[in-house]
Amino acid sequence: MRILIVGEGGRESALAKNLHADSRVTKMFFAKGNATTESLGKNVPESSVVELRNLAIKEQIDLTIVGPEAPLVEGIVDEFRHHGLRIFGAKQRAAHLEGSKAFSKKFMQTYNIKTASAQVVDSYEAAKTCIEKHAYPLVIKASGLAGGKGVVICDTLAEAQATIHDFMIRRIYGDAGIQLVIEEYLEGFEASIIGFSNGSSIFTCIPVKDYKKVSDGDRGANTGGMGSVAPSPQFTQQHQADFEANILKPTLEGLRAELLDFKGFIFFGLMVTKKGCYLLEYNMRMGDPETQVILPLMENKLLDVIEDCLDGKEVELKFSDKKAVCLVMCSGGYPRNIETGFEIHGLDQVKQSEVLFAGAAQRADKVVTTGGRVLCLVATGATYEEAREKVYKDAIPVNFDYAFYREDIAKF
Ligand code: AMP
Ligand code: GLY
Repeated sequence: MRILIVGEGGRESALAKNLHADSRVTKMFFAKGNATTESLGKNVPESSVVELRNLAIKEQIDLTIVGPEAPLVEGIVDEFRHHGLRIFGAKQRAAHLEGSKAFSKKFMQTYNIKTASAQVVDSYEAAKTCIEKHAYPLVIKASGLAGGKGVVICDTLAEAQATIHDFMIRRIYGDAGIQLVIEEYLEGFEASIIGFSNGSSIFTCIPVKDYKKVSDGDRGANTGGMGSVAPSPQFTQQHQADFEANILKPTLEGLRAELLDFKGFIFFGLMVTKKGCYLLEYNMRMGDPETQVILPLMENKLLDVIEDCLDGKEVELKFSDKKAVCLVMCSGGYPRNIETGFEIHGLDQVKQSEVLFAGAAQRADKVVTTGGRVLCLVATGATYEEAREKVYKDAIPVNFDYAFYREDIAKF
């Protein structure tokens, strides 16, 4: 099989390594890939939906897998299907569940999916009125895609006023801020549940804990994810039952009723409070760095799961009892201003972890930094401690200028 993976992060490196190890896979293409994918196949520059479609035709790609959200929202799945190309991912209408927080909140409300109470506002005047009446803290979300930065937790009315001004008048995230979702603040712990949809059912993976904040102790700015642990040690069987009854089941009913059925990934971002699981958001893709800890524990062949879902078959996901830990090494300044282009040293001294590059590229015989999240170290063990010790030990020799990482991943 000839496979195309769209994307360039640590998630795509994890997908690539997994599929590369499958003897059915003969050739892999990555648009645009990174230093890991370059060693497994061919990195290509195509980026628009049309360019990717032409590439898939020219290279006789048998299966395309989409990593990030933007191409899904742009309609890559509809376009590929239209040309008879096999692709795993949400079609454009379903991708709006991630691409528009207003649309997804209305969907959750319509189908009684347990979520924070919220109001969708379309005008600055309506936003002003809403924040004046609201209890604090409150959460303000730009409806459109804002690279993970469009959510602000406001403790005071003054902060909320500044935020709606930034989003709606200054338009700091462009059109993403034309509509806002203003919602109740929920207190609890977060969990990520990723599922595979076969068009009529969703098969879910073990719950994952993602470390979103940049600094130890969950302080500082929100990031794409500084590390992850699977399975989440906090998420109990009881939480799972609550999630299935009050979020998963009504989601399936809503997808059917709105003809939003698709064959691809779906990610439930949950807040688990004293009153149970609430859905914060849907993503129509695998998580990053969640994928990096799910795949090492998955006992099914990923290619079988994807192929079966595309054929509308039932899937029984199986996971080992081991624990997996992913530590993300970042460029100084991340998630704000970063400098790149630094050589990464000490990679040959990594002994017990897998290195998955993200913002890193191969340049002649060197690997250099190209992004904020540079690489992931992933290890498994019989216990969380064993897996954690492996990644932290291997992080010591790996170095590039201004590198940093969190010290408390998988420390419970
Ligand atoms: P979202 O993109 O909607 O998942 O929001 C990004 C992050 O903001 C989440 O991962 C949470 O950490 C936080 N967040 C979003 N909504 C809420 C809420 N209602 N209450 C508390 N924190 C939230
Ligand atoms: N790690 C969260 C995400 O992929 O959105």
